Amino acid sequence: MNYTIDTTSAVIAVERDGDVANVPLYSTEGFELLSELWLKVGWNEKYSYTFTWMGIPVIQVPEDLIRIQEVVFRVQPDVIVETGIAHGGSLIYYASLLKTLGKGRVVGVDIEIRPHNRTAIEQHWLSELVTLIEGSSIDEKIVARVREETASSQTTLVILDSSHTREHVLAELEAYSELVSVGSYVIVMDGIMATVADTPRGDAAWFDENPISAVEEFVARHPEFVVEQPSWRFNESHLRTNVTYAPNGYLRRVAYDPVGSLGAALRGVSTRRTGPA
Ligand SMILES: C[S@@+](CC[C@H](N)C(=O)[O-])C[C@H]1O[C@@H](n2cnc3c(N)ncnc32)[C@H](O)[C@@H]1O
Repeated sequence: MNYTIDTTSAVIAVERDGDVANVPLYSTEGFELLSELWLKVGWNEKYSYTFTWMGIPVIQVPEDLIRIQEVVFRVQPDVIVETGIAHGGSLIYYASLLKTLGKGRVVGVDIEIRPHNRTAIEQHWLSELVTLIEGSSIDEKIVARVREETASSQTTLVILDSSHTREHVLAELEAYSELVSVGSYVIVMDGIMATVADTPRGDAAWFDENPISAVEEFVARHPEFVVEQPSWRFNESHLRTNVTYAPNGYLRRVAYDPVGSLGAALRGVSTRRTGPA
């Protein structure tokens, strides 16, 4: 696919397999095309590395931070588990949301918590709400520690943002999905990999090797989860564009019982998949 943007005539010419379609620039479809381009160019420019939350670097685009806030507000979790800490900005972000809500704490797992990052997190005024666990997120001992940390939680939200290979994400989904309460979510970050595979910093292998392929395999095996974004206000307007690095990454638990009739009934009314193709 090739786009030519003509701002004078306000048209985007979209060429696919030799056919050209003219899309009005000032239209929903125009916005969708520009959004996808914006995501790709911004990803290539490392735009998501330019933010901090309360002094700590966070590697997310603001759109995703706000969407996750909408989920946290809706779910009101007792515990948020995140795999992949990096500098810790996302942990501090979730902790700040939970502090404002007046309940909940955060458990972060990373294969390597660098000393300066650990110090910054541990010295942060929100650190009392944060538990750090160092080790691979798919190591059985680490999973067992997270399970202990969430044992008394009634409502747990899981965010997977560590290694983004299909195999690793699938293993994380198998290990951590059992912690997710009915109505809550496991959020799989960086499903954008297939979309950015053809950018200069991308890799053609990502067309297949990406978190979404893990999500697809997981939900096929686990009918107690459906891929479904919360009904965000944005989606309720005429705008359907999904400005996110986590397309198709919101898996809602609809039943405890993987094969139960409750799950089937709930899935029957709610199997909407959203996000860029
Ligand atoms: C994309 S960064 C996380 C960004 C962070 N969530 C944020 O929003 O700022 C990915 C992190 O995953 C960690 N990681 C990579 N492989 C891992 C594994 N097997 N287990 C746990 N963490 C891993 C890396 O050390 C890195 O810190």
